Amino acid sequence: MSKIAVLGYGVVGSGTVELFYKNKEKISKKSGKDMDIKYILDIRDFPDSPYADKFTKNFDDILNDGEVTVIAEVMGGVGDAYDYTKKALGKGKSVVTSNKELVAKKGAELLKIAAEHNCNFLFEASTGGAIPIIRPMHQCLAGNDISAVAGILNGTTNFILTKMINESMSFDDALALAQKLGYAEHDPTADVEGHDACRKICILASLAFGKHVYPEWVHCEGITKLTLQDVEYARNWGGEIKLIGSVKKTEDGKILPMVRPAFVCNNNQLSHISDVFNGIMVYGDAVDEVMFYGRGAGKLPTASAIVADIVDAAKMSGTSISQTWEDSSDNSFIADYKDDIVPIYVRVSGISAAQAEKVFPGAEFLSRKDQPSDETAFVAPAMKERDFDKKLAELGGNVLGNIRVLELD
Ligand code: HSE
Repeated sequence: MSKIAVLGYGVVGSGTVELFYKNKEKISKKSGKDMDIKYILDIRDFPDSPYADKFTKNFDDILNDGEVTVIAEVMGGVGDAYDYTKKALGKGKSVVTSNKELVAKKGAELLKIAAEHNCNFLFEASTGGAIPIIRPMHQCLAGNDISAVAGILNGTTNFILTKMINESMSFDDALALAQKLGYAEHDPTADVEGHDACRKICILASLAFGKHVYPEWVHCEGITKLTLQDVEYARNWGGEIKLIGSVKKTEDGKILPMVRPAFVCNNNQLSHISDVFNGIMVYGDAVDEVMFYGRGAGKLPTASAIVADIVDAAKMSGTSISQTWEDSSDNSFIADYKDDIVPIYVRVSGISAAQAEKVFPGAEFLSRKDQPSDETAFVAPAMKERDFDKKLAELGGNVLGNIRVLELD
């Protein structure tokens, strides 16, 4: 018998309980154990819930109950969630989580505690929602030397961009709808400013390259400065603008993780991913490239990954199978993004195409419907970003937008 506790009864917590009881028989069969949820921890009261008898407000009820072997932490944040996870792992109880902030900020430490106590810290639901990506990277792609990972890692921003572009919905309305559908973070700033995608690329980078990558080491830009004019230029260039989280190896043996909106060419599959869906490309020396695609947020898609980890944790009880990586004391293995060689799109007013061509020889000029006569848009040829910055300052004019083109080599 495996008894489970669920910490937090919000969108993902209630989805986890719902999915567990919907498929309980199948889940128990797959784990080879009779499984049941014994506790649900939440500070709120749910007197009308069919699970009312399982609620507790006291984490110690769970911690001190020897029957509980698996805990699903779906509270979010790094306050109580961190404290409870550490205590549970320290007592040999496996913890599964959807909490990307917890994994991105404390993953190395928690994985170490799990290994020391013969239990597991699993976090399939932390990245890509329903998409299996953590386990495939840890297991199925283990034979590869990974050179890069790139993806659309935030469902809310992809949903907002899709609604704005295809349905001319305002940014605020699209965000409100994403919140209503349970996609957005408690504080949606984390979505629109790229912090959520940043936490996820930190997790994937740590997994791919074996050293903890902390969010504060990653250059991160969100989608708040994007305009529909930029979107139109991107389409005429032959692509779409997407919020991309990526990490790649650099020639000097470092890695470069980054989150930013990017022009993504139509022949890259990531350009075709819309709504709340996420897509993640992994590049390895044996597989060349593989792509993972699915719903990146939402109640049941995220619960799907949580329940899968619960099954694995129950199956592997008494052993530690957790993916692992080393902690890192400094960021000397992270490359400076200003040294990256990349083509960059520019939209500027008060500068002619001829003037732009002088400063950026070889630029590809773009046009759009109703383009004002004093507006020039182009993609500058690939160069180090710090050199691009100098040239852009030399160009002058009023810069209305600049967005990197996605290139991973
Ligand atoms: N706010 C996140 C997103 C939830 O929109 O992708 C899933 O991690």
